[in-house]
Amino acid sequence: MRTPAPIAPAQGKLGVLMPGLGAVATTAIAGIEAIRRRLAPPIGSLTQMATIRLGKKREGRSPLIKDFVPLAQLDDLVFGGWDIYDDNALQAATRARVLDGHHLEPLQDVLQAIRPMKAAFDPEYVRRLRGPNVKTGTRRELAEQLIQDIADFKAKNGCDRLVMVWCASTETYIEPGEAHQSLKAFERALDQDDRTLAPSMLYAYAALKSRVPFVNGAPNLSADIPALVEMSRELAVPTCGKDYKTGQTLMKTILAPGLKARMLGLNGWFSTNILGNRDGEVLDDPGSFRTKEVSKLSVLDTILQPEIYPTLYGNISHKVTINYYPPRGDNKEGWDNIDIVGWLGYPMQIKVNFLCRDSILAAPLVLDLALFVDLARRAGMRGQQEWLSFYFKSPVHEPGTKPEHDLFIQQTKLKNTLRWLRGEELVTHVEE
Ligand SMILES: NC(=O)c1ccc[n+]([C@@H]2O[C@H](COP(=O)([O-])OP(=O)(O)OC[C@H]3O[C@@H](n4cnc5c(N)ncnc54)[C@H](O)[C@@H]3O)[C@@H](O)[C@H]2O)c1
Repeated sequence: MRTPAPIAPAQGKLGVLMPGLGAVATTAIAGIEAIRRRLAPPIGSLTQMATIRLGKKREGRSPLIKDFVPLAQLDDLVFGGWDIYDDNALQAATRARVLDGHHLEPLQDVLQAIRPMKAAFDPEYVRRLRGPNVKTGTRRELAEQLIQDIADFKAKNGCDRLVMVWCASTETYIEPGEAHQSLKAFERALDQDDRTLAPSMLYAYAALKSRVPFVNGAPNLSADIPALVEMSRELAVPTCGKDYKTGQTLMKTILAPGLKARMLGLNGWFSTNILGNRDGEVLDDPGSFRTKEVSKLSVLDTILQPEIYPTLYGNISHKVTINYYPPRGDNKEGWDNIDIVGWLGYPMQIKVNFLCRDSILAAPLVLDLALFVDLARRAGMRGQQEWLSFYFKSPVHEPGTKPEHDLFIQQTKLKNTLRWLRGEELVTHVEE
């Protein structure tokens, strides 16, 4: 195994730039502000709450992750972003109706000061939304304006480093095309104002060009195309994605490994949701839903390995739907009906009814990913960071390899990567 490079210290301010100042972004920003003022605990965040076991069990060494690896301090984070609406972060958070007034009220000044920059937007990619706060120009001009925004934000806020975390709407489904295959083709497509470059790709390109790590919280391709993978490797910038693993898919990747561990079979998994926030409205468009559907459907196959276990998992019906239902707002409700098979082929059923809060589940992921991808950059890591698969529904992976979806393997991979970064023995659970 390669020896890790020394990790540069987390000195100075870390700017967290978010395309999309909607429910997830504002819940993350307000939450981090509340946590640093000691108004609330950072529940759901590994970087703030989890420990990591080091060495043999009997050594009893289990520091907090944040004391083990040099992460940016919450007090050093500064937030900014882009949106097609010009609401400041307080207005956007109020509109999103995720956090109560008693949480938002003490944070009013900080949230009001965060005003979105003009977005790089193309309504063909998000058909349900139209907003006034958008840039104009060709694809090349939009990318250049984004690069300028990044530089201006860094200078204005005196940041030492930046990360970009995509929190904008899910774009319509596209397959990687000609313009996405190499950096040369991508640059040419920028010059030709080629509409097959999605806005999220322009943000990712601008981030990489500015040597800023890019995190993709939505299922759209963004940086997950050969051209931008090539760029991230060449410029030594880490990226990760795609699509935060939060409600129903989180439950799926917790339950499915358990069923498989016990060699229980599966006939079908029917999942449906009602969701009433702006994300739900965007996903009501078939193109955006298709992007999400592909992301949500992919998880079971790689966990259950039907090619190895055809008797147990060779013929599964897997269905996922999301229904836009405004009264529920951000409080998504998900139902799962799981048809499992036991000894001698006897059928059984499991029902899961998850009454969750979408952005409450996603916000700690924004924080962890911002801190970990910044750590990766300071540790000299480049390209797609598979060790962050833990956080995603559609983890990026090397071509020709399968993504890892099992939450517990993902957790082991994440923690072992942190151990490796600090020169600690990897934990294999085989102990004398
Ligand atoms: N909440 C979760 O649990 C969860 C889980 C996985 C993925 N996601 C994804 O995270 C993203 C954000 O979710 P949300 O609930 O905050 O949605 P939201 O609709 O509240 O916020 C998204 C914001 O992005 C803006 N936007 C759209 N296109 C843009 C562009 N090109 N540039 C800048 N801004 C743009 C919209 O105007 C909107 O304000 C969505 O793509 C969603 O699918 C959320």
